[in-house]
Amino acid sequence: MTVTVLRTQVAIIGAGPSGLLLGQLLSRQGIDNVLLERRSADHVLGRIRAGVLEQGMVDLLREAGVSDRMDEEGHSHTGVELAFDNRRIRVDLAAHTGGRSVMVYGQTEVTRDLMEARQALGTPSFYESEDVMPHDLESDSPCVTFSHAGRQYRLECDYVAGCDGYHGISRRSIPEDRLKTFERVYPFGWLGLLSDTPPVAEELIYARSERGFALCSMRSPTRSRYYVQVGLDERVEDWSDERFWSELKRRLPEEVADRLVTGPALEKSIAPLRSSVVEPMQYGRLFLVGDAAHIVPPTGAKGLNLAASDVNTLYRLLIKVYHQGRTDLIPRYSQTCLRRIWKAERFSWWMTSMLHRFSDGDDFDSRMQLAELDYLAGSEAGLTTFAENYVGLPYESLES
Ligand code: APR
Ligand code: PHB
Repeated sequence: MTVTVLRTQVAIIGAGPSGLLLGQLLSRQGIDNVLLERRSADHVLGRIRAGVLEQGMVDLLREAGVSDRMDEEGHSHTGVELAFDNRRIRVDLAAHTGGRSVMVYGQTEVTRDLMEARQALGTPSFYESEDVMPHDLESDSPCVTFSHAGRQYRLECDYVAGCDGYHGISRRSIPEDRLKTFERVYPFGWLGLLSDTPPVAEELIYARSERGFALCSMRSPTRSRYYVQVGLDERVEDWSDERFWSELKRRLPEEVADRLVTGPALEKSIAPLRSSVVEPMQYGRLFLVGDAAHIVPPTGAKGLNLAASDVNTLYRLLIKVYHQGRTDLIPRYSQTCLRRIWKAERFSWWMTSMLHRFSDGDDFDSRMQLAELDYLAGSEAGLTTFAENYVGLPYESLES
């Protein structure tokens, strides 16, 4: 069979937020890239994911020239709430971080904006690619083979960006003995429900209760996103909308539950919780970016934001490589990313541990959680620690 040979500077595998954002930033710097995605564009846009953007990601989206709709429709939040023991504590993020805040704007919308920008630039993308496979990663001339619409392709490139998520091919194409995986699997998941109902509060509420964790989030003034912690054996079919709403109410402070407006679910799904990191995040000319290299539990809203900070590091690195010939910086990619990743892993693990009900936990564990929350609520140092992690730690520099 004939193979069509293509050539680019950076081959990007995966068109989630990592791949799309990297591609957009590179294109604006005149660095050629080709995007290969296994699914259709509609499938990618149909996935409901998180919705809280750190300031660093907001700034990066502005730098990528894709912020118009976010600036118009997104909502800046200067605080979040922690609820426990029938108390509600507002953490004033701005007051504890010198005025920083987060932006509530759905990952789906970020993805849509990036897809449209890519199309407008006419940068090549192959959606519904099959058998995507990187080769010769340790050589100076790697390539990625794939098939698309019944034709075989060989994409020759300088570098490969593995942006293909936790189940992608990029990480699996690194020899096992060159990677170390660090992992924590939690004995529960989150059942999420999206509805066209006004959010119960203006800011997010992270709630700990004896029945388990709950989160009140939102996408807009008319669209809400709620979650309840569920066991790993739960099936979404067993959760009618009524059952979901009644369980959510039982986990919220009374005054919040009384105000909750319920309605039919637009989407309902269960996601297991996991922490995972692979080291190193590079192999020869392959760089792992975002979920391909690490997973965080959603408590703390760090998954998408960590993907953005990896993109930031790789983007700055590739600018230096292509514009200044600084190939000496290449070996620093992994360590630069990992410094920030591990701190976000710690924050997500800590929030998860403090707010969830653990089936093997006892009364002592429960008192420890409450003491920790009560300490946070009453300590400027505690609130500052929470706030500076929640808004996002500074991006690491390649040359520090
Ligand atoms: N070939 C091509 N594409 C692939 C392959 C493959 N073998 N395997 C996976 N993909 C695609 C997936 O279909 C998906 O569109 O790679 C993309 C990976 O996207 P995400 O999983 O969204 O990962 P990432 O872009 O790193 O986004 C970061 O942050 O909020 C979290 O998990 C959430 O998606 C979010 C992530
Ligand atoms: C969401 O809106 O989906 C969301 C918000 C905050 C989180 C996790 C998910 O910590």
